[in-house]
Amino acid sequence: MGNAIGSAAPAAEPLGAAPSVPARALIYQSGFGNEFATEALAGALPAAQNSPQRPPYGLYAEQLSGTAFTAPRGVNRRSWLYRIRPAAVHRPFVRIDNRLIRARFDEVPAPPNQLRWDAFAVPTEPTDFVDGLVTLGGNGDPATQTGCAIHVYGANRSMAGRYFYDADGELLIVPQQGRLRLATELGVLEIEPQEIAVIPPGIRLRVELLDGASRGYVCENYGALLRLPDRGPIGANGLANPRDFRTPVAAYEDREGHFELVAKFLGNLWSAEIGHSPLDVVAWHGNYVPYKYDLRRFNAIGSISYDHPDPSIFLVLQSTTDSPGVDNIDFVIFPPRWLAMEDTFRPPWFHRNAASEFMGLIHGVYDAKEAGFVPGGASLHNRYSGHGPDAQTFEKAMAADTGAPVHVTDTMAFMFESRLVIHPTRFALETPRLQDDYFACWQALPKRFDPARR
Ligand SMILES: [Fe+2]
Repeated sequence: MGNAIGSAAPAAEPLGAAPSVPARALIYQSGFGNEFATEALAGALPAAQNSPQRPPYGLYAEQLSGTAFTAPRGVNRRSWLYRIRPAAVHRPFVRIDNRLIRARFDEVPAPPNQLRWDAFAVPTEPTDFVDGLVTLGGNGDPATQTGCAIHVYGANRSMAGRYFYDADGELLIVPQQGRLRLATELGVLEIEPQEIAVIPPGIRLRVELLDGASRGYVCENYGALLRLPDRGPIGANGLANPRDFRTPVAAYEDREGHFELVAKFLGNLWSAEIGHSPLDVVAWHGNYVPYKYDLRRFNAIGSISYDHPDPSIFLVLQSTTDSPGVDNIDFVIFPPRWLAMEDTFRPPWFHRNAASEFMGLIHGVYDAKEAGFVPGGASLHNRYSGHGPDAQTFEKAMAADTGAPVHVTDTMAFMFESRLVIHPTRFALETPRLQDDYFACWQALPKRFDPARR
């Protein structure tokens, strides 16, 4: 087969309709936004320059930029790749069926209703990660590089002889069921539920399933690349710590055959024939990289007096805009934590927000909704849609003894929050997974007001 595998790389063969495959001990580099350097063959990385006249081992040098060349140093991203063939080597692209992927968000009027969905099913017909993407909503436009699309995926087979890149956005992948192996140009990442991966725009990859039937969520960020938030008065540590982000080491495939390269470009899927694996980067250096993060490493910070802070205290990653503090996308999690504040309504309060909130549940139970919001399901509370704890959770919290701390365990919920309304797709509003009785969870909240009783 001619597979040449660099250090720490797994076997390069696609797994097909995979049985359970044990995770391998992959090697990662630690840090967020670092200037990484890695080579799968000793001496493959040019030592003193980016573009030597004759790169080592007959490799081609190629720059992959993630920001404008003149972006300020603090946000400038690019990597230099040393590869067997340049990325330009493939046949012309032709358009293919988009299936249920959408990038225009005016299919149907967006209702101001609170929306919630049951868990999405994994398809039974053969479906890989790309074919299994279904868009639930979004905003902005990849052509103007604003906004995002929110997808779920359901897949039951690995991508075989097929590679993908997304020119429209950065893929924030949140698996809910089944481990994924992400074989990328820059190396191999494996993630399991409660871990996430981020694949920057343009980076080619193959998604393999390590546990068969798999599903999860994807935020496709059309805006500024995700970054770690400033911590302000929190100080130099806490929330998501940079050392817990993991970037792969170089690993390459020297493989020839009849393969397919799928591109997502301005909302459409395009397919090109390619005669070799594009995962042929033998060495690379730079800071434009895929990475993974274990959400269980998040250092949650909260109130130790009264009330609870705004959920921005759980911010993991953000896509900023030109307006300070007003983000294109915030990725927020609700991890296990202690609730210690006294004389306080401890669950999330009733609220209406300027921002719009898409939520998913990876694991366990979410503390504001004990029923109806299930792992693999989702909810959407758009701009100024009133929401909060359901009647059952409210009654329990009103009666709770707040004199002792409570350990919230067995939970991992997340939110993709946007400054812009998240328009549901036609699929999202017409699928039978949409709960038509969601509104009822608040209808049992009684009138409690009594002017005679203070
Ligand atoms: Fe909310």
